Amino acid sequence: PPLDEILNLHDFENIAKQVLPEKAWAYYSSAADDEITHRENHAAYHRIWFRPRILRDVTNVDWSTTILGHKSSMPVYISATALGKLGHPDGEINLTRAAAKHGVIQMIPTLASCSFDEIVDAAQPGQVQFFQLYVNKDRAITKKLVQHAESRGVKGLFITVDAPQLGRREKDMRMKFEAEDPSVVSSSGSQGVDRSQGAARAISSFIDTALKWDDLKWFKSITKMPLILKGVQCWEDALEAYDHGVAGVVLSNHGGRQLDFARSGIEVLVEVVAKLKEKRGLTFPNEKFHLFVDGGVRRATDVLKAIALGATAVGVGRPFLYSFSAYGSEGVEKALQILHDEFQMNMRLLGAPTLKDVVPSMVDASNLQSH
Ligand code: FNR
Repeated sequence: PPLDEILNLHDFENIAKQVLPEKAWAYYSSAADDEITHRENHAAYHRIWFRPRILRDVTNVDWSTTILGHKSSMPVYISATALGKLGHPDGEINLTRAAAKHGVIQMIPTLASCSFDEIVDAAQPGQVQFFQLYVNKDRAITKKLVQHAESRGVKGLFITVDAPQLGRREKDMRMKFEAEDPSVVSSSGSQGVDRSQGAARAISSFIDTALKWDDLKWFKSITKMPLILKGVQCWEDALEAYDHGVAGVVLSNHGGRQLDFARSGIEVLVEVVAKLKEKRGLTFPNEKFHLFVDGGVRRATDVLKAIALGATAVGVGRPFLYSFSAYGSEGVEKALQILHDEFQMNMRLLGAPTLKDVVPSMVDASNLQSH
């Protein structure tokens, strides 16, 4: 269908399912085991209700914000998703272009199909990009990658900590990763490819299973970029991260692709905010320690719930993959435009002219288990 018939982010998923090659659909849409966490990610937002306020001037509504000190037109960033060329020949560059048009931040994946430099070169002057890091067993390779990213102007290092091994994504495993496929992974990616078990397994064998808290010192010694741990899933680890002096955490279960029955990020956010207040006196959002959330975010209302509960911003993954797979960078632009329109309407209806007005009392999260 033409782009102007797309009304929401869910529509892109339905279209992608029809137009994507089977292998790409299997890799993008799959999640771990029985995909319970994958379904729960979006469903968890259904348990949070709004408490809108009335009679406030909502003529002008502003949903722009800053993320790690950088301007963003909305409290949403494009999360790292590997293998962009499975869906579209321009791969991740589709995201770079649309991010520039809409003033949002793109997180570049270690396992991008385009090379890191191609993605950075595609950015406009001043466009902000983050880098997602899978830590290689060979630390010399990791050091080179990180320092190269910093030298190319990347503004934040998101170290993925929920994937010492990639989860069991059976839809993807049923597809064989074939001889021609390694072209979808750039050279910064894999070594020792085992092609018998789907794309995910094939590209992930270099990831260091021995990574531990102590290693954060080493990361701080090799880069000045802010460090963020992507894939924190309970308050104990959020507290540990804070005590280790990182700039923030992403409360995430990797889009349901790692441990099945992991809780949704929004559920974890509530306990993290409560416990970091109790243990360290922190309030959120907090400029010294950022809480990001991802997984299952499909509407501006989902984002506004996370903001109300203390998040700095949220990450979105699959909807952008689906939108460029079907329509190239124009699809991603459309997805971002839909979110802009939803922010305008929903903040008006909430009685919140700015994101600062989206406060905890604007949501009823008492149906979340960890409340
Ligand atoms: C991912 N994600 C991911 N995360 C990461 O740290 N490194 C990676 O290489 C990838 N690759 C990847 C591929 C695909 C196809 C998907 C769907 C996801 C996880 C991603 O950054 C994010 O956490 C989730 O996608 C968020 O969930 P939604 O928005 O997809 O529901």
